[in-house]
Amino acid sequence: MGELDGKVAVVTGAGRGLGRAHAIELAKQGAKVVVNDLGVAADGSGRDESAGQGVVDEIKSAGGEAVAHFGDVADWEQSKSMITTAVETFGDFNILVSNAGFCRDKMIFAMEEDQFDSVLRVHLKGHFCGIRHAAEYFRNKGKAEGQVYGRILSTASEAAFFADPGQPNYSAAKAGIIAITGGAATALAKYGVTANTFMPRARTAMTMVGQTAQFFAKPDEGFDMFAPENVSPFVAWLASPSAQNVSGNVFIVWGKDITVMEPPRHGVTSHASDEDAGWTFEDVKAQMTKVFEGKVPVKDSFIPPPVF
Ligand SMILES: NC(=O)c1ccc[n+]([C@@H]2O[C@H](COP(=O)([O-])OP(=O)(O)OC[C@H]3O[C@@H](n4cnc5c(N)ncnc54)[C@H](O)[C@@H]3O)[C@@H](O)[C@H]2O)c1
Repeated sequence: MGELDGKVAVVTGAGRGLGRAHAIELAKQGAKVVVNDLGVAADGSGRDESAGQGVVDEIKSAGGEAVAHFGDVADWEQSKSMITTAVETFGDFNILVSNAGFCRDKMIFAMEEDQFDSVLRVHLKGHFCGIRHAAEYFRNKGKAEGQVYGRILSTASEAAFFADPGQPNYSAAKAGIIAITGGAATALAKYGVTANTFMPRARTAMTMVGQTAQFFAKPDEGFDMFAPENVSPFVAWLASPSAQNVSGNVFIVWGKDITVMEPPRHGVTSHASDEDAGWTFEDVKAQMTKVFEGKVPVKDSFIPPPVF
């Protein structure tokens, strides 16, 4: 018996990398899995169905149940058909792991419009479409049955917080994903559906490029810190009944660590000196000068230093 016996999951971008590892782990815990993957390269180019089909075959040969879905996560109808495929093939839909995406990195002063649009589309709209259709399914079911078993798991990145200068498109998309998922957590709480975001680190086609490849390289011996499989037990737990009281959270997950992010909190609040007239330029200048005295631009801002 697995904790996910009888549950039906959709994992997007599950043909390789982190998505593949999540699909295999969910199946190992008993879930029936829709393996979605468009089969594109790390920069979003090309198309190949063999990776997604390979994961389906892998799950089936290990005794699990899976079906392939080759749609584009950011296409409204194709995204909806991931849920329909789950229901038509396995009789229900319970778990959405949004994971698909690609990168087109450039510094802010060199980024082209299509590099911004395409990365926002695949990550932010890709998450929005999946969550939107999943939410409609859960809400309809919740209205008919009261509580439903529903889990929404979104994949962001630490780039959302750590202001990566070479990923204005990707970091914006990932920050938006945290916002959409948090809103879904609030909207669906009354039906018992949970929604959380996690930020992984792993050696995949996405990270084995340029200078980062060295950082993520497989060690010659010892624990393989950046194996994608290190992240997936957490994903399966978040999808399981054991995590019923976990919603609206953001996590960092990699290697041997799971970190719960603290919610953003208000810092110093200044009040206008003249309560009747409100702020004047002079008053703002005097008070803000005091607040920022001795601070170093960017370094002492709300953005923590990059971790790698
Ligand atoms: N690898 C890391 O360290 C890391 C860090 C932070 C966040 N992430 C996030 O994790 C997720 C998985 O990334 P990965 O590292 O496994 O990359 P990956 O390139 O190995 O896998 C991405 C998969 O998404 C699929 N895909 C791309 N566009 C698609 C579309 N429109 N529809 C359906 N499938 C599509 C690709 O075919 C590919 O199989 C991404 O959202 C990524 O941003 C990864």
